[in-house]
Amino acid sequence: MSDKVYVNIFEFEDEAKKNLTNNSYTYYRSGANGEHTLRDNIDAYARIKMNPYVCAGLKDIDLSTTVLGQKLNIPIGIAPTAMHRMATPRGELTTVTAAKKVGTIYTLSSLATTNMEDVAKEQPDALRWFQLYIAKDRKITEVMVREAERLGYRAIAVTVDAPYLGIREGDERNKFTLPSHLKLEILESFKKEFAVKGKGGSGLFEMFKDQIDPAMSWEDIKWLKSFTKLPVILKGIQNGEDALRAAQLGVHIWVTNHGGRQLDTVRSTIDMLPEVMHAIKDYRNTVEVYVDGGIRRGTDVLKCLALGAKCVFIGRPLLFSLAAEGEQGVLKMFQLFEKEMKVAMMLLGAGKISDLGLKHLVKATIPVSNL
Ligand SMILES: Cc1cc2nc3c(=O)[nH]c(=O)nc-3n(C[C@H](O)[C@H](O)[C@H](O)COP(=O)(O)O)c2cc1C
Repeated sequence: MSDKVYVNIFEFEDEAKKNLTNNSYTYYRSGANGEHTLRDNIDAYARIKMNPYVCAGLKDIDLSTTVLGQKLNIPIGIAPTAMHRMATPRGELTTVTAAKKVGTIYTLSSLATTNMEDVAKEQPDALRWFQLYIAKDRKITEVMVREAERLGYRAIAVTVDAPYLGIREGDERNKFTLPSHLKLEILESFKKEFAVKGKGGSGLFEMFKDQIDPAMSWEDIKWLKSFTKLPVILKGIQNGEDALRAAQLGVHIWVTNHGGRQLDTVRSTIDMLPEVMHAIKDYRNTVEVYVDGGIRRGTDVLKCLALGAKCVFIGRPLLFSLAAEGEQGVLKMFQLFEKEMKVAMMLLGAGKISDLGLKHLVKATIPVSNL
């Protein structure tokens, strides 16, 4: 076990870089095109100012919360990210074990390098969600969802911001493909054509274009809801109109721009969140809203929750801490978030998650004022 101390979340990336190939590091790090949204996801948090209350009489801070009826020890879940075996030998098995120890959600990516069943067997009691891409072959999509149900995954997060994969220039340059000893175990176990092969540019981009359905529509969401008994979450909602449409269909909402990896120059996610919360105000008792993108500080988490998100998710901090030190790295990363959140909540005058609200933010610095 390494005794290396990390003083902020960004430092895991430096350590990870030492352990990753250039191909893998670039894949994990990159955003789409000019990477404006990738940068803005992080920078936007500093534009929103906090409003602390003093003499709050707090002795301790409680970070626990409830998501879809399940208790989390910390309101930070693990977003679906592809190919964890590029980061650490046991890949997704290490991630699910860390998630269980932390007491939070692990969303298993469809593009995982470990199959669904092995992840389930490794930690049957972990709070596991499954992330779905809708394939051109709907029968395969249906079988995948039924398999997730059978294996005890507790929700389906269907990614709706990726009819095509965004253009990540580093991956094009590197002709990104999986290392030869790895496979997209989940997808390939359903259909061998899901294999990622090195082609002219990014092999992943090409596979995606061949197999994933760009023509997916709201009808597909209705179809998905018609046969699964699991809660459905739309991952990729980016404005109030789509959020309202999702809420009207009775699905939950995950505000994300895919970590700045899809359409470049869209807003940062914290800039989208107020509009989404306003649009679904009549559905707040039944629809949960989550958010990810650029969350690197305890105060980032608090800002999302103060605006009404039920919990947040992290992508790259998980990948980089996993690549830095495996399970130990992930635990250290969560401890750092915990520490930063507890200090910030003490200074803000909020003792528990449900205490957080709009009063803790300076209204003039929130992008939409009609909250
Ligand atoms: C390397 C990488 C792979 C990803 N793979 C997936 C995926 O397979 N499915 C998906 O829905 N989102 C995927 N995402 C997006 C994440 O779920 C999440 O939205 C994003 O990483 C959050 O931003 P952050 O990395 O700044 O925390 C991926 C992101 C990264 C960085």
